[in-house]
Amino acid sequence: MSKITVIGAGKYGSTTVQRLAEWDIVDEVVMTDIVEGLPQGLALDINQSRPVTGHRTLVVGTNDYADTAQSDVVIITAGLPRKPGMSRMDLLEVNATIVKSVTEEVVRYSPDAVLIVVTNPLDQMTTLAAEVSGLPRDRVFGQAGILDSSRFAHFISEKTGADIQAIDAVTLGSHGETMVPVPSLCKVEGKPLGDVLDPGTIDDLVERTRKGGAEIVAFLKTGSAYYAPSAAAAYMAKAVVQDSGEEIPVCAWMTGEYGIENVYLGVIAKVGAGGVQEIVQHPLTDEEAAGLAEAAVAVKEKVADLGELDL
Ligand code: APR
Repeated sequence: MSKITVIGAGKYGSTTVQRLAEWDIVDEVVMTDIVEGLPQGLALDINQSRPVTGHRTLVVGTNDYADTAQSDVVIITAGLPRKPGMSRMDLLEVNATIVKSVTEEVVRYSPDAVLIVVTNPLDQMTTLAAEVSGLPRDRVFGQAGILDSSRFAHFISEKTGADIQAIDAVTLGSHGETMVPVPSLCKVEGKPLGDVLDPGTIDDLVERTRKGGAEIVAFLKTGSAYYAPSAAAAYMAKAVVQDSGEEIPVCAWMTGEYGIENVYLGVIAKVGAGGVQEIVQHPLTDEEAAGLAEAAVAVKEKVADLGELDL
């Protein structure tokens, strides 16, 4: 039986579950949360939509990790959003405590799973999940690149009027300030992005992409984005269960690619059975390569903060 588990039945988790169920690509999607009744209620609701949507995948809502046993893929969304008055370190400590405890439970019941981490701060949480799980690093990776690339593509489409499905947009590096957009690999209806938009306009769109999450938070006031993020996480899980081997931007463990190692960084990788199958090194301009190297340094510094926590 094929099975995907999503940890956390909040906005991100439940929307990811809904997408996976409606795609009908596995027998079962398990959703779990610390709040009793929440995953059960949402699962019942999604299951009752099946006659209308036409899908068969069953969603199991539970507070018991035993129900997650033998999952092929586990997506970790559990965590708290940053609250007023909370410092970055406070948030790091809260979410690190949550991610550590859920990862321990996950691998206890699914020792052969592939883990996809989406909880923020993404780079630290992916590193922590990899360390705590003891899984090989290619089986643990994080979601950020598809989302950032997808936001970038949306902004390019808005600006150019080009069909959204005819845009290839690429961002690498880290989620946030050290995100590295890669205009040299971006195409609009087959043409290089630089032939379609002037450098100033590209810079503006890059800046908007970098702050893409914050723009949505400012509208929502409470909570953060989840439609595009859940599409990205579900897509990664699909690539694994279908063993697609598709090249997608993910937060992957670097082992010397682009001269960078021992850090989780956003790069393009072939994703399929077993997780990250190969990091693909596309040619970058000097400026883009320098941006990626800077992002690696910034992520390493952030990850060092994990060592200061008493978990
Ligand atoms: N085990 C399981 N679930 C937990 C735990 C835990 N130890 N701690 C918290 N949760 C659950 C909460 O009960 C809540 O239902 O995680 C869920 C988080 O949901 P939301 O607050 O709606 O947050 P969401 O928008 O889903 O974002 C989740 O993804 O994008 C990131 O920054 C975001 O880190 C955040 C995560």
